[in-house]
This record gives sequence, C-alpha cells and structure tokens, in this order.
Amino acid sequence: MDAILIDGPSRLEGTVRVSGAKNAALPILAASVLAKGRMRLTNVPQVSDVFSMVRLLKSLGAKVGFEQGVVDIDTKSLNRNKADYRYVSTMRATVCLLGPLLARFGQALVSLPGGCVIGPRPIDLHIKGLRALGAEVNLEHGYVIAEAKKPLKGNVIYLGGAYGSSVLATANVLMTAVLAKGRTVIESAACEPEIVDLGKFLIRMGARIEGLGSPLIEIEGVKNLSPCDYDIIFDRIEAGSYMIAAAISRGDVTIRDVSVEALGAVADKLTEAGVQLRSNGNQLRIKSRSALKPVSVTTLAYPGFPTDLQAQMTALMSLTPGISVITEKIFPERFMHVSELNRMGAQIRLEGNNAIISGAKGLSGAPVMASDLRASAALVLAGLVAKGQTQVSRVYHLDRGYEGLVEKLKSLGAKIKRVKQ
Ligand code: EPZ
Repeated sequence: MDAILIDGPSRLEGTVRVSGAKNAALPILAASVLAKGRMRLTNVPQVSDVFSMVRLLKSLGAKVGFEQGVVDIDTKSLNRNKADYRYVSTMRATVCLLGPLLARFGQALVSLPGGCVIGPRPIDLHIKGLRALGAEVNLEHGYVIAEAKKPLKGNVIYLGGAYGSSVLATANVLMTAVLAKGRTVIESAACEPEIVDLGKFLIRMGARIEGLGSPLIEIEGVKNLSPCDYDIIFDRIEAGSYMIAAAISRGDVTIRDVSVEALGAVADKLTEAGVQLRSNGNQLRIKSRSALKPVSVTTLAYPGFPTDLQAQMTALMSLTPGISVITEKIFPERFMHVSELNRMGAQIRLEGNNAIISGAKGLSGAPVMASDLRASAALVLAGLVAKGQTQVSRVYHLDRGYEGLVEKLKSLGAKIKRVKQ
C-alpha cells in the first residue's frame, strides 16, 4: 500500500485546475445503460471509483474505453443485469445502477451496499421510490432484486428521509421514471449540482424533466432514450478542498474551471472566517494572509454546507484560534478524521454529532491513517501546515476521489510525495 509523505509547514501558491466531478460521472455512467449505442463522456476524473464503475459496466457486457478523461461506451452489447458483490463492496455508489438496469431489462440485481466508516448507508428511500413506480423490490442473499412484473408507471413520490433528501435515491428514481409510463413528481428531491448534471444528460438523451436543482422534479416518461455525448461538470468537492488548502496554508491559490454558484456555502463560511475570495468568470482566487476567525458550520443537503467538506473544514478550524463548532447532520458518525487530527495536536472534542474545536497554535507532523475519502483529504491538508513530516497511509482512500492530488499540491508548492509503504 502507498503512503503520502508531507513536510510542513508550506504555503500554497499558484493555479490549479479542478477535475470532473466523480459524483456526477458515476450516476451518468449508470444512466448510459438506458440507451443502446455509443456515447462519449468527457472531463471524467481518473479516480478509482470511476474505474470501478467502468469495470462493472464491462462485466454487464458493455464495451467501455477510458483514456485521458474520456470514456467511450457502447451499451448495445449490454446483456446482464446483475451487479456482483465484488464490484459493490468497494464502492456503494453502484447502487445507482438499480434504476437503469430495472428500466432497461425489467429486472435488476444489485448487491446490497455495505456500511462504511462514515456510518450506515441505508437504501430504504431507493426501494420506496422504485416500488412507487410499480417495481417489486426484495432483498435476498445480500442482493436487492427489483422487478417490473408490469410496465412501470409514473407516480408522485416523497423522497425525504430522516436526514433530508437523498442524492443517489433521487438519481435512481430519476433514471427509472424517465422510461416509466406517464408523469412522475419527486418531492424532496436532491438539488445537488451532480443531480442537475445527471438530469441534463438524460434530457440530452431525450428525457422530459423539469425542476432540476429544485426539491420538486417532474418527469414525463418517454418510450426510449437515444445515446449522446456529454461533458461532466467540475468537481465542487475537489474545488472546495483546494479552497480550504489555500486557507489553511495562508496561501494564494487560483482554482480554474469552477462555477462559484455551486460553491456558495463554502465561499460564505471561508469569507466569514476571514479568507479573501475573488471570482472572475470560471476562476476563483483564494488568499488568506491574516489569522482566521473561528466559525461554526452545520452540514446540510445542497445548497447547504456539504458533508463532503466537513472533515476538511474541521482541519482548518483546528488551526484557527478560538472555539469552532462543526455539526454533522447528514452522516452523524462522520468523524473518523478527528482522532487522527488530535494525534497531530488538534484539540477536538466530540459531543454526539458535534465537533467542538479549540484552535491550536500549530500542529505537528505524525504518522496518520486514512479511513475514508474525505477524512484522508483532511489529514493531507493538516500535514501541509503541520511542523515536520506527516505520513498518511492507506492512500487508496484518496485515490477514490482525488485525481492527481500529489501532483496538483506539488505544483502549488507543497513538499509532498507518494511512496510505496
Ligand atoms: C452521495 O451519497 C455522495 N456519493 C456522497 O459522497 C455524499 O456524501 C452524499 O451524497 C451526501 O451529499 C455519491 O454521489 C456517489 P445520500 P448518497 O443518500 O447518495 C440517508 C463522497 O465522499 N439515506 O444523499 O449515498 C443517508 O444515510 C461520498 O464522494 C437514508 O436514510 O448519500 C444519509 O444520512 C461520500 N435512506 C442521508 O440520507 C436512503 O435510502 C444522505 O445520504 C438513502 C440515504
């Protein structure tokens, strides 16, 4: 297993380009199943979750090439509808194949996603949505089996759960309803930009969808969809991670190929903390010279502060004098990064789904263990500014969602390298 070595402290300066969004590419790759033919997806991030989805689509019979951020897929030869455990166990997002496989074959078998370190990952809302469209859904031998014994029909479906809207449940219902008979309304739909991107891809294939980006999405089913090409949206979580990297290192970084609208909550919180942000077209410059002010953050569904940036924000507040409180409302157990940050000298106390942080004077480098994708990013950010060397092991977690992380940070002046452990 590889590790990342970082010698701190360092200040980040320069320009970095953000890759395509993993969390848009995954459902869009799943949606390609809905049409028969050749499609080209561009700006696809070369991260292991995407490679996993490509392997899975090949196992279902599709022909897929993936080079330099371009996916060429031909779904004509797709002839299997069972997503095996060996693919799902590494990446729970394969659950978003349930809808498209059901819509195309009338039956879908997807291995139940396991839990993960950020907490239990229920799929009751996915099941509720597909059942509302007329599918029979059962759980057998670790698989979710969805079957359309009669043609799927549109319906009004409330998809809100105990923690608000669900991104991939919205994706699954959206991708099924586009080929169901009649009108579907999804209430309490996810508004994330990645769902908007999925919807735009479906519309380009011929789907009829209104209300993307709002909690109320209306779909008019069509008979079939046609293959099309598509350019994936930028990754706002990667962009937010670099914004926080610039802030934590008191740097001056320009991020290219982003749209600030999708980063509103992050920009708002960083500005409140005293970071200077200036946007110009699709570029965003982050300068952080003076000491920052402590802020309190609550994670919420979009457009709220993203849970996927909570760990990175916790790292930033660990070095901000004063008391900050970070409340995690989406995945209340998502605090695997806290114990590792405390080993580096942070002073974070957990109280239920709240992290109470008293900003430390500085952090000291230490060997730390990555545990989930975003927690690992937080440890790298802390390592950038910790005195001495930080060794982040199990970096395969990072490879899941950050394309070229070491190269991009090195280009900004970080003293960072990847080593075989
Ligand atoms: C997506 O996961 C993202 N993954 C996650 O990013 C992200 O953290 C999450 O949305 C929230 O924004 C992808 O898009 C591939 P949810 P998803 O369903 O769709 C509960 C990353 O780091 N819930 O929106 O699985 C759930 O437990 C990953 O890139 C139910 O109760 O998340 C959670 O508390 C991590 N029942 C809340 O809803 C369900 O049926 C939001 O989860 C489904 C979810």
